[in-house]
Amino acid sequence: MRTPVCESFGLEYPIFALSHCRDVVAAVSRAGGMGVLGAIVFTPEELERELQWIDKNVDGKPYGVDVVIPAAYVGKAQGDLGKLDLEKLVPEEHTRFLEQLLDRYDVPPLPEDVPRFEGLLGWTASKGRALVDVAMGHPIKLLANALGPPPVDVIERAHAAGVQVAALVGRGDQALAQRDSGVDVIVAAGYEAGGHTGEVSTMVLVPEVVDAVAPLPVLAAGGIGSGRQMAAAMTLGAQGVWMGSIWLTTHENDWEQVIVERMLSATSSDTVRSRCVTGKPARMLRSGYTEAWDSAESPGTLPMPLQFLAGAEAEQRIRRAIQAGSSSGAELSITPVGQIVGSMKQVRPVRQVVSDLVDGYLDAMERMARLMEETE
Ligand SMILES: Cc1cc2nc3c(=O)[nH]c(=O)nc-3n(C[C@H](O)[C@H](O)[C@H](O)COP(=O)(O)O)c2cc1C
Repeated sequence: MRTPVCESFGLEYPIFALSHCRDVVAAVSRAGGMGVLGAIVFTPEELERELQWIDKNVDGKPYGVDVVIPAAYVGKAQGDLGKLDLEKLVPEEHTRFLEQLLDRYDVPPLPEDVPRFEGLLGWTASKGRALVDVAMGHPIKLLANALGPPPVDVIERAHAAGVQVAALVGRGDQALAQRDSGVDVIVAAGYEAGGHTGEVSTMVLVPEVVDAVAPLPVLAAGGIGSGRQMAAAMTLGAQGVWMGSIWLTTHENDWEQVIVERMLSATSSDTVRSRCVTGKPARMLRSGYTEAWDSAESPGTLPMPLQFLAGAEAEQRIRRAIQAGSSSGAELSITPVGQIVGSMKQVRPVRQVVSDLVDGYLDAMERMARLMEETE
């Protein structure tokens, strides 16, 4: 299964893991894959702390950082509006809708002395760039970007430091734009994927992107959770796999037990693609929160980054309620995860997930080889 991306990144297996949890990132890299830390949830100071920890715990193995520098969002034309200006653009109706929703579920307000979180507001270029500044101060091997081509100067800066750049795409034309802007690796993320995702399925998207950008390497993402699916992705022409959901039910991941249990009991039909968290379509578990935004009373979602701003405090309140053990808080939970959640039936250590993927891949390929022999 060694492909050119293994050579160029120094990996044992072409398995890439997007996670916001540093323990998962370091564990995947130590197991022979490439952990990629999602930086969006951190302030620059927090990201610095997380990367220092990874540097100490990754045993010198390669790892990457993922930022989000969206191509389109409110305030971009004005050179990024500040938080206060953006907040003025959130209609009163949206704030009221969320207040009423949280009241209905008995989710307590935030105490005055609890700081309102800022870190998640990475949904603008200036915030994304501040995270790139931090990431470039560490020995990363890969800088990934979602929601549009990374700015050319960011790509040039990474290349000058010997860091390869990856970009996530959900359509063939997006892949071509990424190739033209100088990206080194394309991640083709299909409809099944957790988090932000487009409308084309992985099965259709991967070969389309592989053909469009050849000879650039393509990683397949969306709906991959087993060695069989990895073998399918490689058969479609991908040089490796990029996975987000599967790590959410590992020992190393830091999510609350009640959320892990919701994932373990979910079926592949229990996710929805919704704009309710960031304003762009993202896949997550169906919950009271997603249903409310889809209901007749919903004021409708706002464009990025206003939707995130509108819901930031609600999200923080829900998280605190979940941590305090409230079951109604859990009913409102915002849980990004892909359709593969239906196959995530046990909690495993990261190392086991990686070895199960490798074993399953080898079994699948042997089965195919036997089929070939039988046909000859
Ligand atoms: C919990 C979660 C958080 C995610 N956060 C990010 C992110 O910050 N940046 C990003 O580029 N992709 C993010 N993604 C999307 C992944 O990069 C990837 O496209 C997706 O997980 C692949 O499909 P899968 O979930 O079926 O493995 C996230 C996915 C999940 C499940």
